[in-house]
Amino acid sequence: MSASLIGKRIVLGVTGSIAAYKAVALLRLLVQAGAEVQVVLTESASRFIAPLTFEVLSGHPVVQDLFAGHQDMKHLSVTEQADLLLVTPCTANTLAKLALGLADNLLGTVALTIQCPLIICPAMDGEMWEHPTVQGHVTGLRGRGVMILEPETGALASGQWGKGRLPDEAVIFEEVCNVLVKGRDLQHERLLISAGPTQEPLDPIRFLSNGSTGKMGYALAEAAIARGAEVVLVSGPTQLKVPRGVSLFPVQTAEDMLRALTAHFHWATTLIMTAAVGDFRPKQALSQKLKKEQWDGAALQLERTPDILLALSAQRTHQRMIGFAAETDHLLEHGQAKLAQKHLDMLVVNQIGGNQSAFGNNTNEVHVLTPHNPPRFMPRQTKRQLAGKILDCMLDLPPVHLAQPTVLHKSHTG
Ligand code: CTP
Repeated sequence: MSASLIGKRIVLGVTGSIAAYKAVALLRLLVQAGAEVQVVLTESASRFIAPLTFEVLSGHPVVQDLFAGHQDMKHLSVTEQADLLLVTPCTANTLAKLALGLADNLLGTVALTIQCPLIICPAMDGEMWEHPTVQGHVTGLRGRGVMILEPETGALASGQWGKGRLPDEAVIFEEVCNVLVKGRDLQHERLLISAGPTQEPLDPIRFLSNGSTGKMGYALAEAAIARGAEVVLVSGPTQLKVPRGVSLFPVQTAEDMLRALTAHFHWATTLIMTAAVGDFRPKQALSQKLKKEQWDGAALQLERTPDILLALSAQRTHQRMIGFAAETDHLLEHGQAKLAQKHLDMLVVNQIGGNQSAFGNNTNEVHVLTPHNPPRFMPRQTKRQLAGKILDCMLDLPPVHLAQPTVLHKSHTG
């Protein structure tokens, strides 16, 4: 958390959610990093946290009321030269206002006058977040280039469990730094990312697979897009939403994944293999469902799938190659061996198995291995935070001689 925000002007909009207290902690981080912060409270936000708290921490009077008897055009003076408007926590009500351009309070008016980037961090009940109206507003705002930091899943103020929690202040702070400090430092990068599990069919309804959810690869794709990269995501089956701006190529088997990655390999400046590729597949995939009565007790015959990283490292011209190792034990020893065997520039080693397993969790801790430096440990944090740091490590790798950009064949764009 050492990023400097000296010289950056941030307008922090706070709305009436129980999570408003997290905006206080965030304000402290922003001010400590050197930012000038002007807080705009909605009327209902001031029922959760007194304006005085924000005034003391920011060192500036809080602005709240569109009609309070001030001589200047307050919404214009607040936004003058702002580098960022950050609305956190953002209720469903304010989200709707921002999506529709309603200007019946100071925050809505400010949002219509700013020229700078807008980050919105929604916080609400899970059912509200999933509501098609709210999701429609989210899509509309994203379509206009607004950054929406997805709420997290966990215990909500209502006592329910669901998606709607405001991420911790450290996560939001990092997003702010990505926008204000790192900016678009990946704008010349073309990232080819694989994610999720593969499925190796036994018959039309059964397959061999693993517990990967794809979260790490999708988090990397999202973080890279936010920093200006072009991203092609080749993904096995997952339940995840494709980050906006990412070109998705869905695949099922290891063989499909190899084909899709090979097709984009020459376009890419970096290949990041987060996919949990199945190492074995049934020797014969049956074309019809295997009925119980037909099974004679014979053991399942398996064969090896292609090693995608190995196959692609043989075709490498200019690409950085980054792998992710899944290990249950001897993480560093196994990791070092894979780094060398697969001719990688970097290998991120995860622990799998146990209740802190990398699979399915929203958080993870990893070791980052490179051929010429000592291993770097990254302690437990959200996969979105890790994604940012892994991309930083990628930029520290030796320079890449870029090939001529080729036209990207678009598939589904999220
Ligand atoms: N990988 C790959 N092709 C495979 C298997 C794995 O390209 N058939 C990639 C993974 O995407 C990952 C890296 O290799 O980036 C390491 O994967 P991991 O499953 O940890 O190692 P394996 O090579 O499969 O070795 P083992 O399962 O024996 O540990």
